[in-house]
Amino acid sequence: MTRFANVDSAPLDSIMALDLAFRESEAKNKVNLVIGVFQNDEGCSPVLEVVKEAEKRLLETEKSKAYLPISGEAPFLHAAKSLVFEDKLLDRVSLVHTPGGTAALRISAEFIAEHFKDNTIWVSAPAYPNHKGIFSAVGMSCADYRYFSIDEGRVTFDQMLEDLSAAKAGDVVILHGCCHNPSGADLTQHQWCKIANFLAERDLIPFIDLAYLGYADGVAEDSFGVNTVFKACPNGFVSISFSKNFALYAERTGILAFVGETNEISHRCQTKSQAYIRSIYTSPPAHGARIVATVISDVTLHRKWLEEVGSMRDRLRRMRNALDRALVTEGVDMSAFPGLRDFNGMFALTKLTGKRADWLRSERGVFLLPNGRISIAGMRMETLDYLSDAFASALRQK
Ligand code: LMR
Repeated sequence: MTRFANVDSAPLDSIMALDLAFRESEAKNKVNLVIGVFQNDEGCSPVLEVVKEAEKRLLETEKSKAYLPISGEAPFLHAAKSLVFEDKLLDRVSLVHTPGGTAALRISAEFIAEHFKDNTIWVSAPAYPNHKGIFSAVGMSCADYRYFSIDEGRVTFDQMLEDLSAAKAGDVVILHGCCHNPSGADLTQHQWCKIANFLAERDLIPFIDLAYLGYADGVAEDSFGVNTVFKACPNGFVSISFSKNFALYAERTGILAFVGETNEISHRCQTKSQAYIRSIYTSPPAHGARIVATVISDVTLHRKWLEEVGSMRDRLRRMRNALDRALVTEGVDMSAFPGLRDFNGMFALTKLTGKRADWLRSERGVFLLPNGRISIAGMRMETLDYLSDAFASALRQK
């Protein structure tokens, strides 16, 4: 028997496995509603015009592909910091550039496992599955707080506070900065203020995952939660992804921000993160970060980028409304699609769960997550009638 002969294979992550199954499927009218990747009406995830322009400039001016420092591309960090944080918080924030939001989560998980290993990570129910995956991978224990009820079609804020009342000082609470994944249901400004004070009073550590900045109400508006929480709480984390708002998925462009009571404290935490980075990937990839820095520090490109984010956001809103209309025309009971018109971002959580999701995949070639999450970003006007008919039929399945 050879050394590796007893190694079992590991199942793929549920989102990635279904995305792969879609690519391999030979179904005639297949539709991918699995992964959160923005698509245009031609069914393509386009390169933004500002990205093309920044790439042209980089091609002409870039002098070197030498390693970045462990902490990453300094102009990118500088520009992104003031994009997200209000002036009065800037001094308290220290950043590292990471390969996407996933690595930001993973590096913070290393930090938490070293400094808060006896604490718990609180994750929203329903959850983005990789949150638990990442924190469990470093041996942290996770607990759920009730966040969204599909039957009531709303954020269950009172239950959220009730569940988090069981958290002990130093526990980490993951909040979605905007466009909650998977439900699309966000906290109101009033609820952000309440949760900020709640966390501060109990000495809980906020962790805000900001993967969809600009997809709810706008880039400035969607930072409300982050800024409100850190005006009340002395320390915590923010993971920031540029995959969606710059459509830079494959360039793996993200940030981990440490917020401390003082600059000196957040800087010390940031130096810790550099030790983990060195032993995992040494330094991040440069290209995406150079694109983002070029765009957000140039007044004209910045304005054009805000317009492009606006048109992606508008397209998602149009698709939500159009799907809603098509389903109503089909006579569907809309309680199976809570908040389709009103919630935010790429995803909607539906009652197309379990067997219904299986039926949609096998009978109609429509791929979605088994928890009923559909990616609005994967829909096109021309497939809407097909989809609404498929959804209506799936809901009639026993
Ligand atoms: C998703 O939930 O589909 C996206 O955030 C992609 C990912 O990294 O899982």
